[in-house]
Amino acid sequence: MISTSISHSFSILGGLLGLLIVFSILYWTIKNGISPMPTSPKVQKALLSSLPVHLEGTILELGSGWGTLAFALAKRYPNAQVIGYETSLIPYLFSLLLRRKNLTFKRKDFFNEPLNATLAVCYLYPAAMQRLKQKLEKEGKIAIITHTFAVNGWKATKIIEVNDLYKTRIYLYGEYTSYGRT
Ligand SMILES: C[S@@+](CC[C@H](N)C(=O)[O-])C[C@H]1O[C@@H](n2cnc3c(N)ncnc32)[C@H](O)[C@@H]1O
Repeated sequence: MISTSISHSFSILGGLLGLLIVFSILYWTIKNGISPMPTSPKVQKALLSSLPVHLEGTILELGSGWGTLAFALAKRYPNAQVIGYETSLIPYLFSLLLRRKNLTFKRKDFFNEPLNATLAVCYLYPAAMQRLKQKLEKEGKIAIITHTFAVNGWKATKIIEVNDLYKTRIYLYGEYTSYGRT
């Protein structure tokens, strides 16, 4: 009898926790205008192989989601410091489980942060790319690598088409320098 009511309480608690998680993800998806959908393994592989063999300095991931792309970047570039910005609570908390010495996650809106880096990586949506363009035109441009959505009005230095179902495009803007703005 007691064990039945304990297990009943646990299933109610579990259900409530599940609802809170779903609510939090939905809330931040609506607020940010995009879900925490991760870059697919095929696109991630193509993106990483389009980058130079060595990169130093700071690499920013703007909207790091669950942290998998930032983790792969930190692993690939042990001499660079990788910082992921993410406001959505659940993906952010998950990303804290991915540990590397040169990897940091910040629960911050990157539009409110100074973006000074060797390279910024992002997978956002058209309106966010335009807002990012305005910010960087004011503050000084840095090299950007993005996929799926281009920055309207900027000429890409390199475009790569991934051999996936959607023929996803990866766009590079600017050149990499080891000291930030170009
Ligand atoms: C499509 S996901 C990409 C996740 C990860 N970059 C990847 O490629 O695997 C975009 C993420 O950006 C986050 N995001 C959108 N705008 C943001 C902002 N201004 N500041 C911080 N995070 C933001 C969203 O919450 C979402 O998790």
